Amino acid sequence: MQVLLSLLLVSLSLIGILDSGYISWQEWQQIVPTCGSNFDCGSVLSSPWAHIGPLPVAYLGFMYYITVFILSLLHVFDLDQQAISKKWRRFKATPIELLWLLTIFGFVFSIYLISIMAFAIGEWCKYCLISAATSISLFVITTIYLKMSLQSPAFFIRSLLQKKLGIVYRYLLKPIFFLFDAESVHTNMLNLGQFLGNSKLGKTLLSLCFSVKDPKLLTTQAGINFPNKIGLSAGFDYNGQLSGAVPAVGFGWHTIGTVTLESYGGNQKPRLGRFPDSKALLVNKGLKNLGAKAIITDLQKVRFEIPTGISIASTNKHFDSTRQQMLDILQCFRLFENSSVEHLYYEMNISCPNTFEGEPFTTPDRLELLLRALDKLKISKPIFLKMPIDQNEQETRTLLIVAAKHKVAGVIFGNLSKNKQNTAMTSADRKHWKMLRGNVSGKPTWKQSNKYIALTKKEFGNRFVIVGTGGIFTPEDAAEKIRLGADLVQLITGMVFEGPQLIGEINLEQCYNTR
Ligand SMILES: Cc1cc2nc3c(=O)[nH]c(=O)nc-3n(C[C@H](O)[C@H](O)[C@H](O)COP(=O)(O)O)c2cc1C
Repeated sequence: MQVLLSLLLVSLSLIGILDSGYISWQEWQQIVPTCGSNFDCGSVLSSPWAHIGPLPVAYLGFMYYITVFILSLLHVFDLDQQAISKKWRRFKATPIELLWLLTIFGFVFSIYLISIMAFAIGEWCKYCLISAATSISLFVITTIYLKMSLQSPAFFIRSLLQKKLGIVYRYLLKPIFFLFDAESVHTNMLNLGQFLGNSKLGKTLLSLCFSVKDPKLLTTQAGINFPNKIGLSAGFDYNGQLSGAVPAVGFGWHTIGTVTLESYGGNQKPRLGRFPDSKALLVNKGLKNLGAKAIITDLQKVRFEIPTGISIASTNKHFDSTRQQMLDILQCFRLFENSSVEHLYYEMNISCPNTFEGEPFTTPDRLELLLRALDKLKISKPIFLKMPIDQNEQETRTLLIVAAKHKVAGVIFGNLSKNKQNTAMTSADRKHWKMLRGNVSGKPTWKQSNKYIALTKKEFGNRFVIVGTGGIFTPEDAAEKIRLGADLVQLITGMVFEGPQLIGEINLEQCYNTR
């Protein structure tokens, strides 16, 4: 059927070429084509509507059909191998998709020309009617074709929109944002997101631009139904301001925090920086947040639209003993457990590298203590462990063995990288980083995150829900983490560098791959 429709497209475009070519030739010769008794081609073709500026509409029609013919030929040659489509998909438009866009234009223009003949001129031109019928048929056939094939027209329009939004973000907005201090931009984005997310109009607009919904994207992990696999990673919405905006942007889940029992104003500035050449952010916030009580007060009023979780860590301050530090964490969990906040899961952040006490629970014995204490709390919701990524394989394996003995539903690989020798960064950025405080996100975390996703899947099978976090900048990056074993993925830095449409792009690609 697809072959038949494709051949029909070629044939129709040939008819269009012959028809518009004939009246173009007559126009060139300044001859009025003979039309038959019921038609008056002369009145139509000499009317003011037969030219757009100095250009006869017949010439435009001829060029239009030539383009349609070339695209439909490319499409036919591509039916078998899909080589062109695969290449062009990177630009979000295959020959058939471009053809469809073009035929929308042809369809609308034909309706316009028919209306002009019917209502303004009152006469009919036979060749113009043939052209109108041809271009309407071309539109109908490409629409049917797209509907029958993998991508529906709506799907295609959506992906084109995402692509355009990406261009606007990368070439217009990002260069402006990157002129300003990273933390101020982050704060302003949070305020803008909160404002838009709190208004119906704002949410509708965000949704129209960004959100991709499809039953194919649904997934259930740890007993939670996720509308899609793409989550906002901990640290972006550290005080829980974005519960309205995050679903509207198209995320399927949302981690708030990291929240600590006591509030923390943040490490000494600068707390946030950028390494554009290394596609990384420098993070030195030190778990800045308003503290559990204040955040609970705010979140109790909120109805979450997507699965939302709370990332918890110990307060960023000095503790006299590990026991005190654990009590701080347990008390934070208790506050959330006893609240009416509608969160569905927790992240236990054992791996924030830029805190006063370092990463105290990333040794097996201390992790054992912490998880034993958490087991005793009988927490009602699944806990995902946010893992470090700079440990070696054996250290990571040992932590996973400890986690597997406790009520840990999932592991997240992983947190920021503190490895200042990281060769994923440019040497200039590495040199610069050595003079600064903080740890990096983005591409420098990609390799280690992937390595430990694969290790967990290979050695622990389905014991844990695996969350892949670190360096997702494209739909292919997300797909790679999923291929390696991730059940869910999260991101921040990719969104900052590529734009918020990235989430929709990933979801579109996921839809496309699962169709
Ligand atoms: C600005 C910023 C703040 C972050 N704060 C936290 C945090 O509070 N808790 C946490 O578990 N991870 C935090 N992270 C780490 C991210 O959650 C994520 O694990 C890491 O950035 C890798 O993902 P990405 O490359 O997609 O950004 C932060 C990352 C960034 C960029």
